[in-house]
Amino acid sequence: MLNPFVVAVDGPAGTGKSSATKRIADVLNLIHVDTGALYRAVAYLATEAGFTLEFEDADHAAITRIAEKAQFEFKRVKEKNPKNRLYVNGKDVTSQLRTPDMSMMASKVSAIPGVRAALKGLQRNLGLQAPSILEGRDIGTVIFPDATIKFFLTASIDERAKRRLAELEAQDSDTISYEELREQIRARDNGDSTRSIAPLKKADDAIEIDTTTHTLDEVVSLMVEKIKVRKLELEAKG
Ligand code: DC
Repeated sequence: MLNPFVVAVDGPAGTGKSSATKRIADVLNLIHVDTGALYRAVAYLATEAGFTLEFEDADHAAITRIAEKAQFEFKRVKEKNPKNRLYVNGKDVTSQLRTPDMSMMASKVSAIPGVRAALKGLQRNLGLQAPSILEGRDIGTVIFPDATIKFFLTASIDERAKRRLAELEAQDSDTISYEELREQIRARDNGDSTRSIAPLKKADDAIEIDTTTHTLDEVVSLMVEKIKVRKLELEAKG
């Protein structure tokens, strides 16, 4: 068994992965690792360096270099609602990362094999430092094929677009319509699931949960229950 305890949570955008994993981390006292934030941070650095969504294969080496050189650090900030902040090369970039433009750029840079290789060791180290829960696209298939328990969340595209719009509105950045957002999610799903390296797909041994008609509380309760059962099974085995 993998020691320490690692929970892998994969699935496309807007399935409630982030909200659920953050809550589960609090309930079960696990370290929460948002691996999408790392790809978004590489997208941010590449954008700062002048690359746009139209970058070409010839740019892969330069963008890989950016990912290899970057220093990433998650810091938990104690506010009323404690939050994970991501520092890249010493700068807090958290608030720049969750825009629709950065979502599209993150999806594109994440298809570069060198970028994925540059982030792999870091993700494993983050997960192994203590009992943890990692969310992403390839946690159960590539980063932690040996995870203690794996989940794969899904939801209808309409529901996912609705949730993302609400999230953007809550950040006061609703500069995109529901239709545009839905189209972006569709394009991102397509890119993330058809790329040749580490495509988004359910691990054979992952527990699939369709969150379309479930509240966040219901999804969290179900996942916490499954994690607790798994823990008991492992303890019983010794
Ligand atoms: O989870 P997210 O929406 O923040 O992820 C942004 C993009 O990063 C997503 O479109 C694909 C990529 N990603 C990935 O390829 N592998 C991961 N483990 C996490 C994210």
